[in-house]
Amino acid sequence: MNYRETYQSWQNDPEAYWLEQARAIDWVEPPTQALFDRGDDLFEWYADAKVNGCYNAVDRHVENGRADQVAIIYDSPITGAKSNITYAELQTRVASLAGALVAQGVTKGDRVIIYMPMVPEALEAMLACARIGAVHSVVFGGFAANELAVRINDCTPKAIIAASCGLEPGRVVQYKPLLDGAIEMATHKVDTCIILQRDVHRCDLVEGRDVDWHDAQIGVDPAPCVPVEGNHPAYILYTSGTTGAPKGVVRATAGHLVALNWTMKNIYNVDPGDVFWAASDVGWVVGHSYICYGPLIHGNTTVVFEGKPVGTPDAGTFWRVIEEHNVRSFFTAPTAIRAVKREDPKGEFIKKYDLSGLRALYLAGERADPDTIEWAQNKLGKPVYDHWWQTETGYTIAGNPAGLEALPVKIGSPTVPMPGYEVHILDEAGHPQKPGELGAIAIKLPLPPGTLPTLWNATDRFRKSYLTTFPGYYETGDAGMMDKDGYLYIMARTDDVINVAGHRLSTGAMEEVLAGHPDVAECAVVGVSDQLKGQSPIGFVCLSKGVNRPHGDITAECVKRIRDQIGPVAAFKQALVVDRLPKTRSGKILRATMVKIADGAEFKLPATIDDPAILDEIRLALQTIGYAK
Ligand code: COA
Ligand code: AMP
Repeated sequence: MNYRETYQSWQNDPEAYWLEQARAIDWVEPPTQALFDRGDDLFEWYADAKVNGCYNAVDRHVENGRADQVAIIYDSPITGAKSNITYAELQTRVASLAGALVAQGVTKGDRVIIYMPMVPEALEAMLACARIGAVHSVVFGGFAANELAVRINDCTPKAIIAASCGLEPGRVVQYKPLLDGAIEMATHKVDTCIILQRDVHRCDLVEGRDVDWHDAQIGVDPAPCVPVEGNHPAYILYTSGTTGAPKGVVRATAGHLVALNWTMKNIYNVDPGDVFWAASDVGWVVGHSYICYGPLIHGNTTVVFEGKPVGTPDAGTFWRVIEEHNVRSFFTAPTAIRAVKREDPKGEFIKKYDLSGLRALYLAGERADPDTIEWAQNKLGKPVYDHWWQTETGYTIAGNPAGLEALPVKIGSPTVPMPGYEVHILDEAGHPQKPGELGAIAIKLPLPPGTLPTLWNATDRFRKSYLTTFPGYYETGDAGMMDKDGYLYIMARTDDVINVAGHRLSTGAMEEVLAGHPDVAECAVVGVSDQLKGQSPIGFVCLSKGVNRPHGDITAECVKRIRDQIGPVAAFKQALVVDRLPKTRSGKILRATMVKIADGAEFKLPATIDDPAILDEIRLALQTIGYAK
């Protein structure tokens, strides 16, 4: 079946379509029904089935002839370490770690926070949780202690699995002080921390609470796979929303197994046994779906890469890994390719490696600009597929289904909606837009299997965030259009979310931190265009009356506050002191106009602006740091 026929067959009978796709999963009790309508626009998939995620990602491959196949390739250009773990070894290691969790009192439904760098043990920790039905929540290493504390309080974990450190180029990120600080700050108290001591930096353990990764496994029985209900949460992954409180996206077990398995062949065009590599981090959704679960469920070999696109050691790292490990499909963020292109515009490094095994490059996480796509296409001589999705969906909403039928690429478009997604472009009143007209991108309910059924402990927030603006639809938060051939174009966010180096961040959260500065009366954070990172945050602060400290001191404190409270990942480097912020007559800050001024783009003076003269003040302030030219 080609793309159109497949999409049509899903539309004709979604229930039959998703039951058919479910046959690729090994069930303890197969589903008798795919969709469960829980009323009030809430849906679940395969709720009456029994299944285990770890069994499908690991054990079944050992039983079905893949015991000696490499499951995980670990390649760390930062430490120089390289190793392979077969499916049989992975099974032993995961069962043992799961046994350690059980010995620490962790059982089905308990939450476990994982705070780990890019080492295979991070995947083992996720799979060990899945094995016993514990719900993991992985926290990205670039967040500060405060962000970790917020997540501890929200998901109330029984245990935390962490490493002694992560490695950034030229810098050891000590995790333990961050972990201890977060536990200290959190009101929820954690019983146990299992700590992986890395040779690069070992940490002290807190007596009675912390236990060494290896010691925890001594004398424990390997844990068997615990069957869970299809709608049992596999994990919670926090993502940025409009406010400082991150949203706990819930992923239900069965739907994510079925959907991810479907994508491996149909989108990424790999067969079981092939090597698949997503150069991301386990802390992001790409890491969950395409470093850990997707490739393993499908019987692929996955690559855990602890490095950066450039500087570890050079802009040829990606191509070296692809050649050395015979990667068939490669997935990364556009920003990573921009970083490579900037260092190696002529693609000299590409010529040094044999990339004949590579079929295609997949880009997602932020808008893929045409220059970057064209450069990669020309230099690699391979198709480059942009695809669009979100933490909430867990996999592609719109992409090029290369394994099903490679559709013609239109540069600037992530191509077409995947089966399961009925995508509409709506105007503010919820009316459908014509082809080529800009509007909010919404998806007709129900969302397909594998997407979020709700937010953790926050169903009301789930409704408010996604279901109320356009009744009967899921609001994606993205704006864009669809052309007459059904190709989608993603243009901008409709909320306060910005995308910095493929990392999703909330300007609202940054504003909350700046507003906490004792000298700041009012503030705004906007995402301005950045040639490398896509967007970059800039803060504007108005000082309280009577404050006459040097502005440079205050802005430096603002930068430090965000690094300390959100983390280095926010990449917040610039704040400006201004007298006033541009607002509408009703008091709404004109952030979009400020972005246009910073980017030097044309804009229409908002009709509702209170005092247009403020825009000149903003322009002048921006010019002092090289913007608004
Ligand atoms: N742990 C601790 N700190 C981290 C971190 C982690 N896992 N990841 C990033 N950071 C830090 C960086 O060290 C940097 O700190 P600094 O301000 O002290 O320099 C800061 O967070 C910002 O990092 P980043 O935005 O990654 O910028 P960079 O300048 O270090 O690197 C790129 C630029 C383009 C090379 C890099 O952003 C990159 O590899 N991007 C790809 C992103 C990606 O794969 N995203 C996945 C989404 S699909
Ligand atoms: P995240 O939840 O971190 O994956 O971020 C999701 C958001 O990133 C989306 O809502 C978009 O705003 C943006 N995004 C992801 N992929 C693309 C893409 N291919 N093109 C444009 N924007 C994208």
